[in-house]
Amino acid sequence: MGGGTMGSLAGKVAIVTGGGSGIGLATATRLAEAGVSVAIVDRDGDSAARAAGEFDGLAVQADVGRSEEWPGIVDAVMSRFGGIDLAHLNAGVTTGEADITKVTDDIYRRAVGVNIDGVVFGIRALVPAMSERGGGAIVATASLAGLIGFSPDPIYCLTKHAVVGLVRSLGPQLAEHHITINAVCPSIVDTPLIDDMREVLEGSGFPLIDVSAVSSAVFDRLSGEETGEAMVIQAGREALPFRFARPPGPRAGGTVGQMPPAEFAAHDQG
Ligand SMILES: NC(=O)c1ccc[n+]([C@@H]2O[C@H](COP(=O)([O-])OP(=O)(O)OC[C@H]3O[C@@H](n4cnc5c(N)ncnc54)[C@H](O)[C@@H]3O)[C@@H](O)[C@H]2O)c1
Repeated sequence: MGGGTMGSLAGKVAIVTGGGSGIGLATATRLAEAGVSVAIVDRDGDSAARAAGEFDGLAVQADVGRSEEWPGIVDAVMSRFGGIDLAHLNAGVTTGEADITKVTDDIYRRAVGVNIDGVVFGIRALVPAMSERGGGAIVATASLAGLIGFSPDPIYCLTKHAVVGLVRSLGPQLAEHHITINAVCPSIVDTPLIDDMREVLEGSGFPLIDVSAVSSAVFDRLSGEETGEAMVIQAGREALPFRFARPPGPRAGGTVGQMPPAEFAAHDQG
């Protein structure tokens, strides 16, 4: 449990991407049980419909990596539920390719498209809707591979680091709209995503995380007030915010601290 003030989520509206399966399905179910109206967005329309059918939710078939689909996603949720308060931007794919010389353009674009574009376009489309309601909460599913190097899937690792950097950067800006944003960074979770590896993992005794541990951490962050954090989720541990080491600052004279002056944000970088 986080240290923030927990508000009740009953009566709020949530959108869960990749909600037809695995972690997203677990979060959607948890939210629905807490009295939240849930929209499941998934590329797989059948699993979205099946999931939404379990709790009278809304199923939206869409590819989150396509920016032109986001206005339609937002409209569908607004017209069914009248607003959006919460989002779990969770749809994601692995590449299955460790060898950088074998990463085709298609493999690369697909991973970047779902794992990065899907989160960026989602946040961009949802912030105005949440602001209209006076605030909101966003959780993105990154991965432990967003915090450590992960040689079995370097491109996946790249995309998850991107999500962590985005979340850490957006905390202060979204706070002005009373929107929190956090990432969850689980190690390996028992979902259909790891079907090919399950036997090997179980044979080696590697502890798989139950989806409920991830959905609980997501739920806590959607209810709490902390922002800009990356929550590490490991089997048998409470979720905890990752404490990043501070890189060394400059040694040259005349500069104070890590960040360039505020004017830097305004200067023309073109
Ligand atoms: N399973 C793990 O070990 C693990 C560990 C860390 C992080 N994650 C991350 O958790 C998230 C969910 O993974 P999961 O394990 O539940 O996988 P999953 O395969 O069970 O579910 C992912 C869902 O996302 C949907 N999806 C994929 N691409 C989409 C797109 N472009 N638009 C809309 N929907 C799309 C799929 O149809 C599927 O229903 C992913 O971001 C994944 O990278 C998983």
